[in-house]
Amino acid sequence: MFEHIDAYPGDPILTLNENFQKDPRQNKVNLSIGIYFDDDGRLPVMQAVRTAEAVILGDPGPKPYLPMAGFAQYRDAVQALVFGESCPSRAAGRIATVQTLGGSGALRVGADFIKRYFPASQVWVSDPTWENHRFIFERAGFTVNTYPYYDEATGGLKFEAMLAAIAALPPKSIVLLHACCHNPTGVDLERAQWEQVIDVMQQRDLLPFVDMAYQGFGAGLDDDAFAVREIARRGLPALIANSFSKNFSLYGERCGGLHVVCEDAASADRVLGQLTASVRSNYSNPPTHGAKIVARVLTTPDLKQSWESELAAMCQRIARMRVAIHDGLRQHVSGEALSRYIRQRGMFTYTGLSADQVERLREEHGVYILRSGRMCVAGLNEQNVGIVVDAIAKVLAH
Ligand code: LMR
Repeated sequence: MFEHIDAYPGDPILTLNENFQKDPRQNKVNLSIGIYFDDDGRLPVMQAVRTAEAVILGDPGPKPYLPMAGFAQYRDAVQALVFGESCPSRAAGRIATVQTLGGSGALRVGADFIKRYFPASQVWVSDPTWENHRFIFERAGFTVNTYPYYDEATGGLKFEAMLAAIAALPPKSIVLLHACCHNPTGVDLERAQWEQVIDVMQQRDLLPFVDMAYQGFGAGLDDDAFAVREIARRGLPALIANSFSKNFSLYGERCGGLHVVCEDAASADRVLGQLTASVRSNYSNPPTHGAKIVARVLTTPDLKQSWESELAAMCQRIARMRVAIHDGLRQHVSGEALSRYIRQRGMFTYTGLSADQVERLREEHGVYILRSGRMCVAGLNEQNVGIVVDAIAKVLAH
């Protein structure tokens, strides 16, 4: 019966992370997966999460199914965080929001929805993008293409080429964009560049699908949502996926949201119905626990403030680690290329190391980064940064 089933070659991120766990070496360093670790190399439990969870567990109560679209209080609080409390599209009921299984779940529910209603459209992702973007959209039946994005020569953005490629797309093409902290390169658009991209998408009748998995890890919770809010302010139809895996350190709770900005409230109602139908036919309804934690934090002013401060401190620690690896490598590498460690934002830096060098880092030194050269700088700390610098210097030396 199953003879013809292919072996799964594994996932470029999750399988590498699993291999890291199995590596017996003491001094191994995990900079592969996009997870924030604290300065002791531990996964933090944020204080606001701890407090909210203690209250929730203190009153366990029955555990009914959530509605298919998710926990109402969560959906509302998440919408406010993503679009801003006073967003006019939100007040007018033009945004359909469902609770999803993390950001990946949002992308998949969104992909199923657009495949059903825009069957002839193709998807365009940045070159490069998070590996799973391609897998998700291809599995949903789309042809996935790329638009220019990262400039290896400068460690920055190929903005003119990106804009020209988007401007040449057929109407109703789906353009996947990263709201902030681009994964894997750490290279983001400036506000003026976003304005131009949004102008083109509006003129060309394109459908943006914005992935915001790192809100708060770039320039702050509001600034990171600039593109999303500008799209909503203009009333441009769009899909937005957001996630609380990173900014709440709630990876395993699978907390996310899918938001569809519609032209009017009646369309938003129908869209919400179809998103709900997609949830029902995939997994019926989402889980409760993480959503309750997030909703409580976002709707309790002192918990929200505590969460925001702790998130800001996490970003400051990442910024210190960017400087530490930059300064360490400067002893071994000359030229401008190193400045990308400081310029690039969020959890990732595109190191420019080749696949062979990446393999040697792992095999000879126990330092894990992705084959593409993506390094999760949020996994660096005072103890391991020296190990990583030495390892990279040795690999670069011969
Ligand atoms: C990553 O890019 O490493 C994270 O978003 C984790 C994942 O699911 O790939």
